[in-house]
Amino acid sequence: MFGWRKKKNQTTETESSGIPVITLDGPSGSGKGTIARRVADALGYHLLDSGALYRLVALAAEDACVALQNSDNLTEVAMQLDVRFDSNPEGDEVVWLNGEDVTQRLRTEQTGAGASKVAQIPAVRDALFERQRAFRKAPGLVADGRDMGTQVFPDAPLKIYLTASAEERAKRRHKQLKDKGLDVSLAALSRDIEDRDRRDSERTVAPLKPAMDARFLDTTGQTIESVTQTVLDWVAEL
Ligand code: C5P
Repeated sequence: MFGWRKKKNQTTETESSGIPVITLDGPSGSGKGTIARRVADALGYHLLDSGALYRLVALAAEDACVALQNSDNLTEVAMQLDVRFDSNPEGDEVVWLNGEDVTQRLRTEQTGAGASKVAQIPAVRDALFERQRAFRKAPGLVADGRDMGTQVFPDAPLKIYLTASAEERAKRRHKQLKDKGLDVSLAALSRDIEDRDRRDSERTVAPLKPAMDARFLDTTGQTIESVTQTVLDWVAEL
């Protein structure tokens, strides 16, 4: 159900507007990615990890030696992104950028920091806008990011804003990175997350904030199963 490739016959705006979208926005480490995947699997919906697109722009820029301040060239990079999302025989996600396996590089904190810098540029966001909207396909979509409910899918029937304490978010990211074989100090990670959250919340274009009609879900101290169940209960109410 991981529909990343652009299909030839994209659904038009009017055709797609009846297709349900569940948006999950929130700061890094709030659990969006994990919960989005669980909910999409449970419902048989497509999944959009919008943060991955911003991360891929940062990586593609690095590969092309484009400075993260050069908005014209970054926009060009965003428009030309050649990405493919796959899975290996074990079922783990594999991400290809310009034919290169970037799965490991994609998830580093350095790439996350680069992503939050390129994400401040309005033309880069515009360049990714339609690519994100094209994920809205039957039977439905679960979209995670920072502005899914506020900008990209403002008509989504269910918008959720996930939070968790800063301490727990840093610990979760630390564990995630460790599990992927990436070693970072918890203190350094907490600082990086704080910087990134500040940049994401204070930027002028599409800042991280709950949609007016979002439901709040604090995941501190909760298991993945119980958060997933809460979301599925809300879906059942629709
Ligand atoms: O969610 P993830 O950590 O992969 O996102 C990386 C960065 O991409 C975020 O810190 C944010 O700056 C940016 N982003 C965004 N809008 C989104 C998703 C991610 O600006 N919808």
